[in-house]
Amino acid sequence: MQTERLTIAIQKKGRLNDDSLDLLACCGIKCHVTKNSLIARAENMPIDILFVRDDDIPTMVMDGVCDLGIVGENALLEKALSQKSNGASSQYDLIMKLGFGICRLSIAVPEESHIEKIAELDNLRIATSYTYLLQQYLIEKSIKAHVLELAGSVEIAPKLAMADAICDLVSTGRTLEENNLKEIITIFNSQAVLIQSQVDLSEEKKEIIELLCRRFEGVIQAQESKYIMFHAPRSALEKIKSILPGIEMPTVLPLGGCDDQVVVHLVSAEAIFWKTLEGLKQVGASSILVLPIEKMMC
Ligand code: PRP
Ligand code: ZN
Repeated sequence: MQTERLTIAIQKKGRLNDDSLDLLACCGIKCHVTKNSLIARAENMPIDILFVRDDDIPTMVMDGVCDLGIVGENALLEKALSQKSNGASSQYDLIMKLGFGICRLSIAVPEESHIEKIAELDNLRIATSYTYLLQQYLIEKSIKAHVLELAGSVEIAPKLAMADAICDLVSTGRTLEENNLKEIITIFNSQAVLIQSQVDLSEEKKEIIELLCRRFEGVIQAQESKYIMFHAPRSALEKIKSILPGIEMPTVLPLGGCDDQVVVHLVSAEAIFWKTLEGLKQVGASSILVLPIEKMMC
């Protein structure tokens, strides 16, 4: 009997594509991907990767056409609201947040506009591709604005006098700046998430999902963690523990030939900044090394 293959939908083009592929590769999924691939078969696991438009990923998972999906929360929630309002299926399981594709959905107005607060948008026109998320926000805030739907290039609307404001994704803020727009309010913070279909899956598929999720968690945890090694006076150990964040149990080893010096090895679950290293140096640490961690399983 042929093994059933698990399907994972990811973005074909756009800002989540590279990071999604990197994450799958870090999880040990080997597959050959070309620029025009629509489907890639993993060589070492019963997994097929489907390359689709990001706004199709939520529906594919909700309809059970695909088992898993990696998608931005922005596209996911917008689609869920639209499906719900059309009476279509809008159910999925959110498995985990993935820590990349971080952006926000914000309302922005022209630089020269006097609008500062959301209440001032009453009766004005807002252009967006995220009509459902925006409408939901406006209802919550009791604002009656006219929502104008544009599929893309939303930033152009104020220039063409089609709208007084826009509601669009902001990541670095460069697009807003280039179009002389200023952000007045963030309505939603987004990042890439892993979602699963609610369709009943075979035991085989459930097992692969379980294995994948453990690896995803390991990769995400490893990305955030660092391995730190240094020499220090034995008497400074207590102070060192208070300087380093996210430490559980450092490994303390004797340093050959020096009774009062030790070697400390530890994993920190948080980012290590120069300030932290300078703090360590101040209490006597030396030969400090901070290394990235490739894989982690606790
Ligand atoms: C998004 C968004 C903005 C831009 C913001 O568009 O619609 O235009 O990114 O990013 P920034 O703050 O880093 O400049 P995207 O590139 O995803 O393309 P799209 O509008 O065609 O979907
Ligand atoms: Zn855009």
